[in-house]
Amino acid sequence: GRTVPAAPPRLASATVAALAEAVADLPHAHDTSDASDAVAGTAASAGMVEGVERWFRAFALEHRAARPAGTGGARAWRLSGHGPLWKAVAPLLPDDPSAPPALAVFLPEDPPDQAVSDLLTAAREAVRHGVPLTVVDHGDTASGFLAGLAAEHPDAALRRIAVVDSPVAAVADALSAAWEGHAEVTVDASGARLTSVHRPLALPPDGPPLAPGDVLLVTGGGRGIGLETASHLAERWNVRLALLGRSDPGADPALAANLRRLRDEGATFDYVPADLRDARSVRAALDRLTARLGPVRGVVHGGAVNRPARFLDLTEQDFADHDAPKRRGLRVLLDALDTAGLRLLVTYGSVIGRFGLPGEAHYALANGRQRELARVLARELPGCRVRNIDWTAWSGAGMGERLAVLDTLTRTGVDPIPVAAGVRLLARIAESAAGPTSVVAAGRLPALERRTGGALTHTPGVELVTEHRLSSAHLPWLRDHRIDGLLVLPAVAALDLMARAAGELTGGPAACVTGGAFTRPVIVPDDGERVVRVCALADEDGGVRVALRSDETGFAIDHFTGTVTAAPPPPALPVPGPAPEAAVPVHDGRALYGPLFFHGPAFQRLLRYERLEARGCRALLDPGDASVAGPLGDLFRNDASIHVVQACVPHRRLLPVGCDRFTVHATATASGGGPGHGPGHGPGHGHADGPLVLTARERAHHGADHTYDVLLTDASGTPLLSWTGLRLRDVGPLLDGHGLPPVLVGPYVQRHLDDLLPRAAVRPVHGGFAVAGDAALATAPDGSPDPWPGEADRLARLTGEPPARSLERLRTVAACLRAAGGDAAERPAVGGVYENGWVTLRTGTHEIASAVVTVAGRDAPLVLAAAARKGTRKGAGT
Ligand SMILES: NC(=O)c1ccc[n+]([C@@H]2O[C@H](COP(=O)([O-])OP(=O)(O)OC[C@H]3O[C@@H](n4cnc5c(N)ncnc54)[C@H](OP(=O)(O)O)[C@@H]3O)[C@@H](O)[C@H]2O)c1
Repeated sequence: GRTVPAAPPRLASATVAALAEAVADLPHAHDTSDASDAVAGTAASAGMVEGVERWFRAFALEHRAARPAGTGGARAWRLSGHGPLWKAVAPLLPDDPSAPPALAVFLPEDPPDQAVSDLLTAAREAVRHGVPLTVVDHGDTASGFLAGLAAEHPDAALRRIAVVDSPVAAVADALSAAWEGHAEVTVDASGARLTSVHRPLALPPDGPPLAPGDVLLVTGGGRGIGLETASHLAERWNVRLALLGRSDPGADPALAANLRRLRDEGATFDYVPADLRDARSVRAALDRLTARLGPVRGVVHGGAVNRPARFLDLTEQDFADHDAPKRRGLRVLLDALDTAGLRLLVTYGSVIGRFGLPGEAHYALANGRQRELARVLARELPGCRVRNIDWTAWSGAGMGERLAVLDTLTRTGVDPIPVAAGVRLLARIAESAAGPTSVVAAGRLPALERRTGGALTHTPGVELVTEHRLSSAHLPWLRDHRIDGLLVLPAVAALDLMARAAGELTGGPAACVTGGAFTRPVIVPDDGERVVRVCALADEDGGVRVALRSDETGFAIDHFTGTVTAAPPPPALPVPGPAPEAAVPVHDGRALYGPLFFHGPAFQRLLRYERLEARGCRALLDPGDASVAGPLGDLFRNDASIHVVQACVPHRRLLPVGCDRFTVHATATASGGGPGHGPGHGPGHGHADGPLVLTARERAHHGADHTYDVLLTDASGTPLLSWTGLRLRDVGPLLDGHGLPPVLVGPYVQRHLDDLLPRAAVRPVHGGFAVAGDAALATAPDGSPDPWPGEADRLARLTGEPPARSLERLRTVAACLRAAGGDAAERPAVGGVYENGWVTLRTGTHEIASAVVTVAGRDAPLVLAAAARKGTRKGAGT
């Protein structure tokens, strides 16, 4: 009758009773409202949608201009608190004793207990009697406290105005403004009103803040995440550990085992029990630790308690108890230390202290006060790197590691940070000199998400997961992209969706996809729809990794992946097309749609090939009208830049399976519409009139994969797009040498002879062929009526063709042998019979390949043979 835990329970050390209790704590299977308001200020998300991969990052507070607010009407103001600001602001407030009451509490920097007591008194009145409360927070104390309170008491009107050297008049204005429910606003030093958002923080590495052998003090270092921190940093920085906690390892087997683990890991450490609430015991412990290990150079302050309770049930003592190991404990510690020698001070706070959580007002306030103290200390200790880390929940260690807590958090969309990721992130934060004093360290967390725009999850600057419904009803051009009867989403349309997601995530242009892997096509049902999910994750180096998944495979596997880069696209490299001799016979490129290309009218952009051979081409494309364009520009143009290459391998169907890089070079503004979203003006529109020019060159061919570089320019030669390392996979036969359009005969013959008779080095030139110096190619029979009597019948039995056709072959072979300097009297032996009527033969001196090719528009098939002397190296001549 209970739901399955969203996070795997840790059962190794659980008793049966603990397990039963844990199961009882799980929500009923039918009850989905259990955790709906567990994380302050956010709606519960329905389960965790999978992204590219799990991530854990540091975030810093950023400010944006706030929307102007109307005035809040007359109020009977009751002000309390401390600090200079409130006395200055009071006379500026429009006060009307007959109007409804409003409370304002002024918290000074690093507020003393009396100021906090005033805050608690006002907060109780606000939630009990519905009196609106504003906290003017000089610093960074009260955000989590107020947000958690608001989540616990949704009807209360609770506002925080953060001030830092703000003009008095601007603070009075902000106080007089109207607001509803829970609100936060910052008034900066210029008087501007700002809202705050958290944005991912770059952490450029500057090396460890401590030297090997230095002493690092970790409070709460005997268990939980303090222990994990100590263990990791001892190894990573080669520092010695001074550990402090309340418990005595002699009376606490779990603590004793933790310390044994550190010893086994080879850490140099000492643990001394002391109570952070008691200055004398802390001083004595530090004396002992420094006497044994040396002076303390770094501190990680992780001591804490957390006993959740509803706000109205909390006493002043509860608040004091939670503050004692945190802010007050830190003061006690610093009073007992030589702070001039400190180079690192890290305080462990919590996202609860930043964003709040029902039942955690006291814990939130303790964390907020500690964070504010760290902010002040950063000023007071200029030689010391001070960092407050507001951690998300950890899994695998610490106070969050209680089954029901993690489970509830996971249900609400929190991704708890595993120990290994947590300690690594801590080290990166501590090793970076850049950045603000206080950071949030978290994975997915509803409080960091943007809840608008229909995304499944969106953490600005980090992660976006969106879904799109694809159907031929909405995207009629899909009907023009049918392969073997199936509507297949073109690879370039998938890339467009990926670029669009990356652009939405970073707010920047998306003109380049690297490392593209098109692992599995997306098939759209003829009369239904296909849901694709696009998962984007911003890497810290600026690229966005994107995976496109589909409901056809339950969103479980990647169909398309790649990294979209927002950086300016690299310059286009020239792609050498075929030499001018590879000019092709007059033809209409559009006539190849059908026999060669599967694409319907919307995609038909090829005007004609100018030059064409097996390993490259130069083609002219219709620029079209970009009627369907996304962030990567004209969809049909982009598709043509792939499919036109098919003519180089006309007898095998090639489909794109990946690329090293796809780049849109032109820089016109992106339309951002995505495929199917109407006429676009995306990047890549040519400016010069006239056909677009495509050059393609095969750079590798291994097994079924052909790798091409492609460049598309406008008529004036301005690069529009390029593919570097476009991988096309041979997925099966095509054309089969039957009814081959004349323009394709050149690459068709060249491809086969490259495989069967590479020494001949055949190249199409001006509608005919060139071969290596001592090779020959013949397309007309020898004068002798039957050069090798009886041979034609034997060959016909092998090929299954009429004997007359075999005879014609042999006469062409004889002509070819003679032209290649062979002895036409020597009867050749058949080497092999291959697909599409290709045959190899050999004499004592020569190897020969023979083919019969049915060419469209010709009554008689083309019978040809090529011969090359055995052992002759492939050469250039014609
Ligand atoms: N775990 C999480 O998910 C999480 C999330 C966000 C923030 N944090 C923060 O990370 C820090 C460590 O948390 P944790 O999860 O590791 O907690 P924990 O497992 O409960 O450990 C807390 C540690 O603090 C020590 N401590 C408590 N009161 C003390 C006092 N008066 N004097 C000396 N030591 C005292 C405890 O020592 P004894 O056990 O010997 O009493 C223990 O070693 C805390 O600041 C917490 O707020 C944790």
